[in-house]
Amino acid sequence: MAKLTIRLEDRLGTISPMLYGHFAEHLGRCIYEGFWVGEGSPIPNTRGIRNDTAAALRRLRAPVLRWPGGCFADDYHWRDGLGPRDARPRRVNLWWHAEEANHFGTHEFIDLCRQAGAAPYICLNVGSGTPEEAAAWVEYCNWAGNTARSAERAANGSPEPFAVKYWGVGNENWGCGGRFYPDDYAREYRRFACYLRGRSSSPIELIACGHNTPDWNRRFLETPGDMRMLDHLSVHRYYNCGHATEFTDTECYNLYPRALQVEQDITEAATAIALYNRTGRKIGVIVDEWGVWHPEAGNATGLYQRNTLRDALVAAAVFDAFNRHADALTMANIAQTINVLQCVAQTQEEKMWLTPTYHAFDLYKEHMGNASVRVEMADVPTVEARKGDGAAVQLPVLSASASVSPEGKTLILTLQNSHLTEPCDVAIRLRDGAALKAAAKVLTAKDVRDHNGPEAPHKVRPRRFELGAKGSTLRATIPPHALVCARVALR
Ligand code: AHR
Repeated sequence: MAKLTIRLEDRLGTISPMLYGHFAEHLGRCIYEGFWVGEGSPIPNTRGIRNDTAAALRRLRAPVLRWPGGCFADDYHWRDGLGPRDARPRRVNLWWHAEEANHFGTHEFIDLCRQAGAAPYICLNVGSGTPEEAAAWVEYCNWAGNTARSAERAANGSPEPFAVKYWGVGNENWGCGGRFYPDDYAREYRRFACYLRGRSSSPIELIACGHNTPDWNRRFLETPGDMRMLDHLSVHRYYNCGHATEFTDTECYNLYPRALQVEQDITEAATAIALYNRTGRKIGVIVDEWGVWHPEAGNATGLYQRNTLRDALVAAAVFDAFNRHADALTMANIAQTINVLQCVAQTQEEKMWLTPTYHAFDLYKEHMGNASVRVEMADVPTVEARKGDGAAVQLPVLSASASVSPEGKTLILTLQNSHLTEPCDVAIRLRDGAALKAAAKVLTAKDVRDHNGPEAPHKVRPRRFELGAKGSTLRATIPPHALVCARVALR
């Protein structure tokens, strides 16, 4: 039997709700069709934004939505998305081999965020833009006074400032965002950042582009400059193994170490920050793009891919890693919300269905705002898996994280058995506390390859789960390829 000890008093940091964030780019059918259908559409919408997908994000308590890219951001000129829609220019969507109608611009994005209940996070154009264009966008959105730009925003229907807090200074600037070397990007970053804060009437936080190679982060951070210009450093992590729906059991296990590489990305970025940050103020790590990117998601399909229970389980293991790094990690955004890559919902005309990944978010949202607490494991069975570089690792079949509510009365415990055929018996001991009662849900399916679709929208969804809770001991038998979320009332 596997043994878990939950140290209720050993706090690892507050789990920012922002760790459960989202990312939506002008790519494939994410923005157009996924969110934006236009006011004249027969699909139920509010001011052109479809009701079902906005409501799905609201139910998830989606904390933040990053936009407009991705690679699209460094070739986007925000003024194209203002004014009467039929007068907006059509442009080339360079990176995704399409045309951009610009019907969805800044005002539509803010409206979407408000309908979904999410904070906006805008990624600025560094690669092909200028500091003045970026600063003007901040002023247009956030200036409360009476400048030509705030007056223009008011004339476009929004007298109140948007108070956008999060601003990314470019995206993947080592690649599609301008192909910079880290020291060149560092200089550009500081030139752009210099003009941004002063254009906003409300506090803003700036996010620099990092990399999942420590070398980029160190070379970026060591270039002389003022660290007070920087609030967060972002890294991206994508992974895959085998096909989206047709994969072997071995490929299923092998996906875990590839995804969990993100834990090293976070640690390395945090270590680089600690090395150069002498200001005493916190500079956080953000993973503002992450998820599974299957080989079937190519340009021809607009990066559409099916999303199985496997993807949701692996995402849950990543959430456990995020919870463990609650002290360093300040935000994470899965790519990409609707119809693209590891999305939480998919659409086909008026139909919408939730993916298994949506349900993983739904279970884990209970951790948001809680204190992450240490979980120790012993006697956990392992299976052999291989990392991306082919190295063999012993993968523990149990992944878990735990958190305590701010008033200390509720424990949220998420537990996963990744074994594909064997159930996992777990004895859970609470240190420094005892359980009064527990209520739990399980996300599983007959096969780890199962997924939802227009004909079977609820094939994979959570159900009630029995978990024994008595004093300081809890017991569970977790079925194969299953994720359990328990809410435990503490005495
Ligand atoms: O999410 C798809 C793309 O992946 C993004 O545009 C880019 O930032 C990353 O390479």
